[in-house]
Amino acid sequence: MAAATPFITFEGSEGCGKSTQVQRLAAQLESLGVPFLLTREPGGTAIGETIRELLQFAPQGKGMFPETELLLFEASRSQLVREIIKPALEKGICVISDRFFDSTTVYQGAARKLSSETVEKLNALAVGDCVPDLTIVLDVDSKTARARMQNPRRPDRMEQEPDEFYESVRRAYRDLAKREPNRIVLIDGTKATDGVSEEIWRVIVSRFPSWAERSRSSDTAADNPQSAIRNPR
Ligand SMILES: Nc1ncnc2c1ncn2[C@@H]1O[C@H](COP(=O)(O)OP(=O)(O)OP(=O)(O)O)[C@@H](O)[C@H]1O
Ligand SMILES: [Mg+2]
Repeated sequence: MAAATPFITFEGSEGCGKSTQVQRLAAQLESLGVPFLLTREPGGTAIGETIRELLQFAPQGKGMFPETELLLFEASRSQLVREIIKPALEKGICVISDRFFDSTTVYQGAARKLSSETVEKLNALAVGDCVPDLTIVLDVDSKTARARMQNPRRPDRMEQEPDEFYESVRRAYRDLAKREPNRIVLIDGTKATDGVSEEIWRVIVSRFPSWAERSRSSDTAADNPQSAIRNPR
């Protein structure tokens, strides 16, 4: 997909700091007056949020087979791409998604050990030509992530998996970043939040130089339009 209107995704294992950094980036874009939309996976649409509940928290999820899990993620994604992401990009609104199809490659493919060919085909069916221009993977070891997850939160099914599962997810993200160096940038997520967001912003302005221009001119501009579209769900 042409990078005229950027589509940026954040990936990485639980507790690596995706949602924190998505919010940081949103604040930065808002201050620059860049029109953007935040979304997340699974979810982001009415259908997707219902699927999210089933995948992550519903008691029925306990008996879920890996194939069922794969198809539910793809169902949520198919809806999100067509209902939200593509229409926004077509209108020139930048899209930032907290997880996208790499999560399925990693979790259902590598960690749950489903056929990578099947996962790739289903990902392709769900996203069509809607491939991210840039994917930030936050790399964090399981110990750091577990410590961060001690903060009060509603533990989802993946968080209840053992450390080996976490490490296989981490390894798979690192392999993916090596395989697709043009799209995926691996960032050390163990640093302090500010340091991580600064590094992400450096990567982003190197990929989308028009934002660097805005950033420079906003140092002198008195007002910026409030053009953000907050998470639709
Ligand atoms: N760089 C950081 N240093 C220390 N703590 C952090 C950092 N980034 C995020 N945190 C904290 O770690 C916890 C998890 O962060 P966050 O929710 O952003 O992770 P996540 O990747 O979105 O997790 P999940 O996959 O479960 O949604 C939060 O309490 C957050 O405040
Ligand atoms: Mg999150």
